[in-house]
Amino acid sequence: MCGIFAYLNYHVPRTRREILETLIKGLQRLEYRGYDSAGVGIDGGNDKNWENNARQIHLIKKSGKVKALEDEIEKQDSIDFDIDFEVHLGIAHTRWATHGVPSSVNSHPQRSDKNNEFVVIHNGIITNYKDLKKFLESKGYEFESDTDTESIAKLVKYMYDNRESDDISFATLVERVIQQLEGAFALVLKSIHYPGEAVCTRRGGPLLIGVRSEHRLSTDHIPVLYRSGKDKKGNCSLPRTDSTTCLFPVEEKAVEYYFASDASAVIEHTNRVIFLEDDDVAAVVDGHLSIHRIKRRAGDHPARAIQTLQLELQQIMKGNFSSFMQKEIFEQPESVLNTMRGRVNFDDYTVILGGLQDHIKEILRCRRLILIACGTSFHAGVATRQVLEELTELPVMVELASDFLDRNTPVFRDDVCFFLSQSGETADTLMALRYCKERGALTVGITNTVGSSISRETDCGVHINAGPEIGVASTKAYTSQFVSLVMFALLMCEDRISMQERRKEIIRGLKALPDLIKEILTLDEEIQNLARELYQQKSVLIMGRGYHYATCLEGALKIKEITYMHSEGILAGELKHGPLALVDKLMPVIMVIMRDHTYTKCQNALQQVVARQGRPVVICDRDDYETIKSVNRVIKVPHSVDCLQGILSVIPLQLLSFHLAVLRGFDVDCPRNLAKSVTVE
Ligand code: F6R
Repeated sequence: MCGIFAYLNYHVPRTRREILETLIKGLQRLEYRGYDSAGVGIDGGNDKNWENNARQIHLIKKSGKVKALEDEIEKQDSIDFDIDFEVHLGIAHTRWATHGVPSSVNSHPQRSDKNNEFVVIHNGIITNYKDLKKFLESKGYEFESDTDTESIAKLVKYMYDNRESDDISFATLVERVIQQLEGAFALVLKSIHYPGEAVCTRRGGPLLIGVRSEHRLSTDHIPVLYRSGKDKKGNCSLPRTDSTTCLFPVEEKAVEYYFASDASAVIEHTNRVIFLEDDDVAAVVDGHLSIHRIKRRAGDHPARAIQTLQLELQQIMKGNFSSFMQKEIFEQPESVLNTMRGRVNFDDYTVILGGLQDHIKEILRCRRLILIACGTSFHAGVATRQVLEELTELPVMVELASDFLDRNTPVFRDDVCFFLSQSGETADTLMALRYCKERGALTVGITNTVGSSISRETDCGVHINAGPEIGVASTKAYTSQFVSLVMFALLMCEDRISMQERRKEIIRGLKALPDLIKEILTLDEEIQNLARELYQQKSVLIMGRGYHYATCLEGALKIKEITYMHSEGILAGELKHGPLALVDKLMPVIMVIMRDHTYTKCQNALQQVVARQGRPVVICDRDDYETIKSVNRVIKVPHSVDCLQGILSVIPLQLLSFHLAVLRGFDVDCPRNLAKSVTVE
């Protein structure tokens, strides 16, 4: 949901072309977060002295994908691409429109005025922007875009125009601005009044800073500075108007900083990063990074650690695949194994989840489990609800985060609330987390993103370790969330003698999973052929029940989001209560029928469909001869334990949606109107 990227080189000379290339590369890595328009802000002027150039800001903005911006940059004839910059800050943005249609005026950077005195890139939504706009207009500031972000740029200028002294720092202005903002944001700002300086801040939106220096950094943490008073060690106080007295001690002058919505955009430059907390204001002045907060809150951490990312560049590259989604589908044998690695012991049938260890007793005593999520992550909750109920013997509710909040759902101190989120940043899920925390429930995060808001704000949790998921349509995160919740269920019944045989059966099933997934992936060509038969249809119904209801919901979501065909996941038990009316000889129907306790009922549903001249394609066990001989078209999948079978049955549908989208000529990784990380409610 919008990607922000900025690059500051300090005494590391870079040509303007190199700077622009870095910015464009950063945006390409973040493009999955939004791709309806993009823009950059760099120093203008063609002087030999960088400081003179930094007194002008040049904006290049374009609607469309990052490629369109790249082409637009090539057309700029007023700037010299070969000129060297000793010091420079460039900011860049790829947008998913919330306020204002995709257009170049609505693209970011947004500016304070026609001279581009202050420019800003923003991810999030400012909910009180109308009030801010009204106020600023009453003071004579003229707006040009329909965005909420423009009010931020103008508000900084207002603070600057009304400053009490000339030596006010850029960080101070931004601190004053964020006190007026409501909503969610991650921001990076640049100004002609503060050459070579950067200020960034966040509240609710993700933001990290990568640091690269040839020299050893002399600290592994950055103390947080408070506007008034001293830091915890008592050795650093900030004068009200200056932010540069206590600095991040870089040994040598040369340093580069990368500011980004997520790690994928910085990993090719550095693996040393700092994750900012809500309301941190970080500033780079004379190459030094400092982090400020206005007020000290109870429980505040006195410093931000410089962390080392465990991410390889290769993990965020497409390799030989045509899209990230395809790559991620094919990664599943490995990603589910990574989810289990070091956690499931297949020899002694034990499960260790380090992130839950200290809380397991409390969880065992709880009143109920509530799984809260959106989209595909919600389906992972639906898929595992039954095994959770079976192994924990607790009531399990599975909730869509938005609806959970709309209902003001009662939550109690003895509830345990799980927040499932690939990105760890989904606004609805994050709001639900805060809601449950306020009511005293224990909160557990199941996320795929280290350092994300949900993983930081929950009391404990499990990282699903699926590796970066870049395709907007979630695939490997679903199967890894599924496995994570099964591991949790196994952990919960470790001491139950009556459950031991079942536990062993499931753990053996987990062990076999990666190989079974590999077998399913060999069906790719067969599924491509099926896609050729279906791709011109308008609609596809997907039916199943029990463990596979979630498979149907998830398969239908995949199809609708990347192929734009209508698709519906239908609980086969509900067929005769309405959906059967849709069935005739023309309606494409896919049924998921597996040999578990719902098998006979699924066979009944199959007969009901066939009796209405429906010609379903059936996903079934490969040795289910009864089903195989009764229908024309089957996709045969290997057999697993009933409660794990959903991990296998969903993969043919992931592949089908992928091939349908390719045949229909759509961009698989960037479906229209969507973005990967939904940081607005
Ligand atoms: C569908 C999809 C979305 C996400 C949903 C929640 O393929 O990706 O439905 O699952 O937006 O996102 P996370 O899991 O990041 O909270």
